[in-house]
Amino acid sequence: MNISEELGKIRRAFEAATEADFTAEELGKLRVAYLGRKGIVADLFDRIRDVPADERKEFGRVLNELKLFVTARIEEHEATMRSKKPKENVDVTLPGIVGFQGGLHPLTIILNEITDVFRGMGFTVETGPEAELISYNFDKLNTPFWHPARDLTDTFYLDTPARDKLLRTETSPVQIRVMERQKPPIRIIAPGRVYRSDKPDATHSPIFMQVEGLYVDKGVSFADLKGTVLAFYRGLFGPHVKTRFRPHFFPFTEPSAEVDMTCIFCKGSGCRLCKQSGWLEMGGSGMVDPNVFLGVGIDPEEYSGWAFGLGIERIAILKFGVDDIRLFYENDIRFLRQFG
Ligand code: DAH
Repeated sequence: MNISEELGKIRRAFEAATEADFTAEELGKLRVAYLGRKGIVADLFDRIRDVPADERKEFGRVLNELKLFVTARIEEHEATMRSKKPKENVDVTLPGIVGFQGGLHPLTIILNEITDVFRGMGFTVETGPEAELISYNFDKLNTPFWHPARDLTDTFYLDTPARDKLLRTETSPVQIRVMERQKPPIRIIAPGRVYRSDKPDATHSPIFMQVEGLYVDKGVSFADLKGTVLAFYRGLFGPHVKTRFRPHFFPFTEPSAEVDMTCIFCKGSGCRLCKQSGWLEMGGSGMVDPNVFLGVGIDPEEYSGWAFGLGIERIAILKFGVDDIRLFYENDIRFLRQFG
């Protein structure tokens, strides 16, 4: 093979090598192999002296052309590599682009805060079924058969074969379930969904949430109830909050009281939300009725206790400044996304 044929072969091999895809590192090696000080091209220049004198000029011309070709091609590839570089060079310290992954429902956020505050006061969390026995929702809670809450227009009765169930209208039946299986001292909360046949509007929803509280021990007093409820609302809303207990009637407590909290929007001076009264109704409470204790086998002579049932949406509405309870149940993603 004469030296011109060899040049042709080298050129073809180089062309083939630069046709395929390669990395920046491979390109660097290619440059060294062909254009380096001890590379193929340099070697060929060294061999000029071995070429017969009459062929030398032609050889030199072809070799120079090869060198220019190789240089141009390598530089071309280097330029392409450089323009691609930012994509290859990922900065792993930059924050990534993360799609919306869902988040906690605002009521869940509030529920977590509520349970945190009560856990801090030594309460444990209990639950009960939403499809509840009528006896637990009413009878065992000392609610007489003629009580209006039992009315079909207020309550969703379930069409079970035994016709003994309803969607619980309050979280109070969990009190009974706990007292039936646990002896005092008892100190629990029971948050959960409840159902009433109400027409939905800004302040009513047929489904809503309550948190039930129950404390039973020797010598428990109404003062404990007031102190605990006040500590709870202060834990949620801050130390400036006050509470007020208004006499009321509930079948399962005696005496009973409704719980009001100072309106946190106007701080008690009167606004639209509190209907100018400075107070917001938060739920019901009272001392556990002796009849309820007797029904679950707790001696009312030995033990006393208090209970409460407080609205959860009320708290969420105040915390988040939401003015319509229905928003919590419509699952509009534009609403929910605001809470993360
Ligand atoms: N269950 C009552 C309601 O839904 C609220 C309530 C009042 C719960 C007094 C209690 C209580 O535990 O002692 O209206």
